[in-house]
Amino acid sequence: MPAEIIDGAAVAAKVRAEVARDAAALATRGIIPGLTVVLVGDDGASAVYVKAKEKACHEAGMHGETIRMPASTTQAELLAVVDGLNADPKIHGILVQMPLPKQIDPQAIIRRIAPHKDVDGFHPVNVGKVLIGDSDAFAPCTPWGALVLMQAYNVSTAGKECVILGRSNIVGKPMASLMVQPGVDATVTVCHSRTKDLVSHLRRADIVVAAIGKAEFVTGDMLKPGAVVIDVGINRVDDATAKAGYKLYGDVHFPSASEVASLITPVPGGVGRMTIAMLMKNTVRAASMVLA
Ligand code: GUN
Repeated sequence: MPAEIIDGAAVAAKVRAEVARDAAALATRGIIPGLTVVLVGDDGASAVYVKAKEKACHEAGMHGETIRMPASTTQAELLAVVDGLNADPKIHGILVQMPLPKQIDPQAIIRRIAPHKDVDGFHPVNVGKVLIGDSDAFAPCTPWGALVLMQAYNVSTAGKECVILGRSNIVGKPMASLMVQPGVDATVTVCHSRTKDLVSHLRRADIVVAAIGKAEFVTGDMLKPGAVVIDVGINRVDDATAKAGYKLYGDVHFPSASEVASLITPVPGGVGRMTIAMLMKNTVRAASMVLA
């Protein structure tokens, strides 16, 4: 039987409705949750994401603004902008869009953002809090969104073998932190470019989270029948027949994987829809912590 397809747009809409409700409640107490996105340079894909973040904020009744800086921006100039946002009481969340131009060290920027405004969840303080399981942690939006999708579909995770493909700081490592927490209780394996016999790990996985950035890498024959497949990949592949000149593919070969899996996310329309929703959720949480 073909897999059930996870509707990322529907789950994201639900999260966004919750965010709008929470933002309205905060507004009655004089707080408008505020998110500032800093975009350095003119990467086309980043500009699209950043616009979507600003629009989503406004739709949820939040304050959203974007600071655009030229590709020639120095690290000192960007640090000064972060310092200003750290000190601004109207701004509860700060997101510096990655990737940054090569003259800027991303870790220096991430470490400068005040941890209580780090709605991306990239600061070492939040990385540690997520691993410890602190309730006031900001978890990175994409892996958190992937987990919320599983929970929305009542995926049983306790004692299940969860194999994560990819060990990035943005997805793979925080996904492992989240899946191993009490309450989620998965047994986690993180595979990467040096993993031996990756397919043998995949074939015993009850839950696969694919985040390696290789279009259609995971095929149906690599999966255990009935596996839950969460595809985090968003790969642009040139295609002259497409209007945009490219098509988007996940890290999973959907046609074959959906014949073997029990539940699967599509690309687009799966995990990607959740990232901005979780970012807004983190921003509202950051704003509500001001009252605490
Ligand atoms: N670039 C791609 N994804 C992300 C993200 O989640 N946060 C930031 N800051 N930059 C990104």
